[in-house]
Amino acid sequence: MNKYYLMTPGPTPVPSEALLAQARPMIHHRAPIYTQILLGVLEDLKYVFQTKNDIFIFASSGTGAMESAVANLFSTGDKVIVVSTGNFGERWAQISQAFGLKVIKLEYEWGTRANPDDIAKALEENPDTKGVLATHAETSTGVVNDVKAMAQITKGFPEVILIVDAVSGLGACELRQDEWEIDVVVSGSQKALMAPPGLAFASVGEKAWGHVEQSNLPKFYFSYKKYRDALNKPSPQSPFTPAVSTIMALGEALKLIKKEGLENVWERHRVLAKATREGVKALGLELFAPEDERANSVTAIKSPNGIDSTQIVKIMREKYNITIAGGQSKVKGKIFRIGHCGYYDKFDILTTLAALERTLNELGINVKLGTGVSAAEKVFAEANL
Ligand SMILES: Cc1ncc(COP(=O)(O)O)c(C=O)c1O
Repeated sequence: MNKYYLMTPGPTPVPSEALLAQARPMIHHRAPIYTQILLGVLEDLKYVFQTKNDIFIFASSGTGAMESAVANLFSTGDKVIVVSTGNFGERWAQISQAFGLKVIKLEYEWGTRANPDDIAKALEENPDTKGVLATHAETSTGVVNDVKAMAQITKGFPEVILIVDAVSGLGACELRQDEWEIDVVVSGSQKALMAPPGLAFASVGEKAWGHVEQSNLPKFYFSYKKYRDALNKPSPQSPFTPAVSTIMALGEALKLIKKEGLENVWERHRVLAKATREGVKALGLELFAPEDERANSVTAIKSPNGIDSTQIVKIMREKYNITIAGGQSKVKGKIFRIGHCGYYDKFDILTTLAALERTLNELGINVKLGTGVSAAEKVFAEANL
């Protein structure tokens, strides 16, 4: 028997409190009991987003919330700047193009972060720009972008809003929507928020509501106005049937985040990420992203000696029952990724590194068993975790 470990950057393991919540009897979404649950979940979501904005919950994956942002905030032919540092930056460009927007793409080499000065320059050169779409933690490359610096730039342009995809970053890497003045943040349930897949969120700030008023793109299910109106009823609710059980699960997961404290949660992720990095470095492997650009939600590692990284993922899964992620799109086969956003602690990392050591040996890369584990242990000891 091999115990199952899910070490991908989403979906991620769900704590038992949240799993059990899904087994509760179904309730009606127009009954007072649902409103009570919804209000609790929204309050805790606001804490995690660090915002006072209304937050809308959709029954969709994170991409739905990304699509909602484009459909609600822009009009046909609007010009937007897409900051692309990987697969999910590319997704912003694809959605924007699908909705007929004019996309100016600031593209960066995969494994590096965006330079906010380039956004300032692009905005100066394109005074008719309506929005900047960026990624907080770029899951495909393990890089975290400086969205705080980006917001400092966009706030100087009255017609420009900053929209941030924090699908994998929220709850793992520091993000303070209101303090940093980020106009719109979107996210999803299945990563650092420790809930099952199926919920997406959009937190919409005041400046962005001006864009909502002007938008002429088609929308119905994702209409922000419909969600705002439903929340403003005497008994707040969702405009359509919500994913009741998943929302109840999310509610329990958010209570755990609140109990631990958001800053402690960020700190735990910092230590988990550092231990993972030190562990793989001790095994002679190279990290994909430069040191000060790495996200604490996922560690991306270059596959050694020209080995196809899908081999590493396959052995880890088939022999050790540990699911990690390979590379996506243009880095497929070249990197592999260990996820540590959400419900993870030190022993998840140590177990994964132990299996990685064995996997490397099986692929002919000789490493002394325990080398990666002991480097990671050192980080945990220093951090008192
Ligand atoms: C940064 C980022 N954005 C967007 C998405 C898309 O989310 P979903 O797969 O839930 O649609 C993901 C999922 O991996 C992600 O990591």
